Amino acid sequence: MENSLQSHRLVLLFSFSLALFLSTELSFLASARATENNSKVYIVYLGEREHDDPELVTATHHQMLESLHESKEDAHNSMIYSYQHGFSGFAALLTSSQAKKISEHPSVVHVIPNRILKLKTTRTWDLLGLSQSQVPSSFSSPSSVKGLLKETNMGSEAIIGLLDTGIWPESEVFNDQGFGPIPKRWRGKCKSGKDFNATIHCNKKLIGAKYYIKGLMAELGGNLKFMTRDFKSNRDAQGHGTHTATIAGGSFVSNASFNGLALGTVRGGAPRARIASYKVCWITFGCSSADMWKAYDDAIHDGVDVLSVSIGGKVPEGSEVDQVHFVAAFHAVAKGIPVVAAAGNHGPGAQLITNVAPWFLTVAATTLDRSFPTKITLGNNQTYYGESLFTGPDITTGLAFFDSRSGKITNVKGKTLLVFDKDVSNEGVVAVILAQNVPDESSPYILISYEQGVDILQYIRTTRSPTVRISAATTLTGPPEAAKVVAFSSRGPNPVSPAILKPDIAAPGVNILAALSPLDPESHNGFGLLSGTSMSTPVVAGITALLKCLHPDWSPAAIRSALVTTAWTTSKSGEPILAEGSNKKIADPFDYGGGLVNPESAADPGLVYDMGIKDYISYMCSAGYNDTSISRVLGKKTNCPSSPGASSILDINLPSITIPNLDREVTLTRSLTNVGPKNSVYKAVVESPLGITLTVSPTTLVFGSGQVLSFKVRAKTSHKVNTGYFFGSLTWTDGVHDVRIPVSVQTRIMTKP
Ligand SMILES: *[C@@H]1O[C@H](CO)[C@@H](O)[C@H](O)[C@H]1NC(C)=O
Ligand SMILES: *[C@@H]1O[C@H](CO)[C@@H](O)[C@H](O)[C@H]1NC(C)=O
Ligand SMILES: *[C@@H]1O[C@H](CO)[C@@H](O)[C@H](O)[C@H]1NC(C)=O
Ligand SMILES: *[C@@H]1O[C@H](CO)[C@@H](O)[C@H](O)[C@H]1NC(C)=O
Ligand SMILES: *[C@@H]1O[C@H](CO)[C@@H](O)[C@H](O)[C@H]1NC(C)=O
Repeated sequence: MENSLQSHRLVLLFSFSLALFLSTELSFLASARATENNSKVYIVYLGEREHDDPELVTATHHQMLESLHESKEDAHNSMIYSYQHGFSGFAALLTSSQAKKISEHPSVVHVIPNRILKLKTTRTWDLLGLSQSQVPSSFSSPSSVKGLLKETNMGSEAIIGLLDTGIWPESEVFNDQGFGPIPKRWRGKCKSGKDFNATIHCNKKLIGAKYYIKGLMAELGGNLKFMTRDFKSNRDAQGHGTHTATIAGGSFVSNASFNGLALGTVRGGAPRARIASYKVCWITFGCSSADMWKAYDDAIHDGVDVLSVSIGGKVPEGSEVDQVHFVAAFHAVAKGIPVVAAAGNHGPGAQLITNVAPWFLTVAATTLDRSFPTKITLGNNQTYYGESLFTGPDITTGLAFFDSRSGKITNVKGKTLLVFDKDVSNEGVVAVILAQNVPDESSPYILISYEQGVDILQYIRTTRSPTVRISAATTLTGPPEAAKVVAFSSRGPNPVSPAILKPDIAAPGVNILAALSPLDPESHNGFGLLSGTSMSTPVVAGITALLKCLHPDWSPAAIRSALVTTAWTTSKSGEPILAEGSNKKIADPFDYGGGLVNPESAADPGLVYDMGIKDYISYMCSAGYNDTSISRVLGKKTNCPSSPGASSILDINLPSITIPNLDREVTLTRSLTNVGPKNSVYKAVVESPLGITLTVSPTTLVFGSGQVLSFKVRAKTSHKVNTGYFFGSLTWTDGVHDVRIPVSVQTRIMTKP
């Protein structure tokens, strides 16, 4: 009995460490990295393609490498990938002097050392108002389907690409029953490999399945020991990729649960969408940027409609261009493919957010309006409710307190421990009750509040043989449970460019039920609950796929604007959404961007803050790229404004206003595009941040159809001292649509010389 309980606890632990990160053995990596001749993997980025013919593009790459090597053969052998579709560049094994030499080549924009990265639902769609709880009896008569799902045929024409750990193709969530033919524009394919037969495993649901490992292998000097636990194919050994793909676009599977918890119908945001899986992350090691770039290159060529990337670098990031997929994602977005990326799991401290370039749609995580209350009964019959994923049977054990300050602990084998600090090594312990007011919803422990912990400690200290009974968790949904930004979700402000608000939006990412690889010891009948911004990212990718079906002509920025301006900032009962942290507080834009995603409203936003290449150029200029570099990135001659201040980063047409250093006053510009009814009249409603006066002019905008109109916003501070951020909003309303953007202002008085 004791053994089985113990293993249950361990199983819980394992699942959660996976949910947050791919377990990465960095020390091993560091030692394996240096190959004998000191070659390392570099990405040599050349910007936009100079030819339409991919073979010609690759030929130039070979020529460039030949100039570094003695023989043609050495040059060809050193190449790992040629990026030839979405943009131009290559990955190669180079010594540092070769890397330096090639960086001086006139057509090179940037030479970037390869990096290894980590990865970072039953109830989800009800909470977001995109419900379709019943499996439609047949696809041809989805009479029970309503709203956005109905209008888009549940996303049947959309292709969602995911960069992740691959797919467990036999999972029921990838069934293609009732699916029509694969969209004709699809140019991707499925590649067979270890235990993956493209003929059998791909279908009209799973239409693309490739894998990318050459960059990682080169980095490891060919060390393939980890392959005994992974598959050299798109097959998912780990579960993360199967989980995210289910969330974005899984087919309906009824009666799914985690041992009875969270029982319901599992499906993706766009349940009829097609899935293209690009496996770039491998068990033990993670994801190599050279591999990710090739996946982007292919995805752009293949014709995906949206990319979902639940991967992030370490924080804080170094130089922006070194960020893993900064440039690759730019090319996808410039070609009309929204890239939805995870904010990271480094919250609740400020400024630890990743994927912050303005072209990413960066997603934070909230809880669901669901909890798993777990009854704790002490030996004196006093009861408390904590939260856990403990599925029973009930256990009764001795109870002990572990004081991490003294670090001493004896006789705890077979007992339950009360701790106030999660750094506890607890060999032989049956269960751990964790009391802290910074809830960590990814913890394998039974969570209670600090105050409850103090009570239980009092019981332990005054009782000769304290005992505890822990009952299996139950599932509670709806009020009084409300969604809140979870503590681990990474927060703004943006550490690279504080005037670019990040995150953009929030979506549920805690204890999400979706399919897993059955190899994951934590899966039950092929399903499991995982938490992370890894999970909230594909929620938004699925919704983005539906919006693209409904509005094929919308740019990635228009879609982002629709999502941000219509997001919920309150629960359905009107109470503000909270953010967890050391203190629970009302969420602000650095917690959740525009708010909690509201898919039905995003389908009809009225107006959008659109963005195009011009805005991205002005961002690159302000980020310190010079004209030569920007011209290469874009593939055409481009000049940054010559006088500084001619173009301000504050004027980038984001669906948000963030002023990191307001000294007296500043005026900025935005423009709005009407995507609603012709001849609409909108009025500005301002909610100024504390101590700031916001003046909008004009205050009324009269639109024809599709017309673009600009307005100015003057922000003036009355603060006499430097402040932190204060928050407000600007809403344009026509009485039907409320087009709301968050405003964040920090006063910084410049001292005069
Ligand atoms: C360096 O070593 C790797 C593998 O050991 C080899 O593939 C590569 O060609 C070598 N590079 C040079 C420049 O000698
Ligand atoms: C894949 O499956 C098809 C159809 O069953 C079969 O003909 C083919 O031989 C299989 N390929 C491999 C490599 O096993
Ligand atoms: C649902 O699943 C449970 C256990 O997995 C099973 O006992 C039950 O019969 C299933 N119900 C339906 C309607 O399939
Ligand atoms: C606790 O409750 C149980 C069952 O209701 C009872 O048998 C037991 O005596 C109670 N113990 C105490 C300490 O009150
Ligand atoms: C532009 O930037 C690149 C890369 O940082 C640098 O190599 C180049 O010399 C710069 N060119 C000019 C004209 O400043």
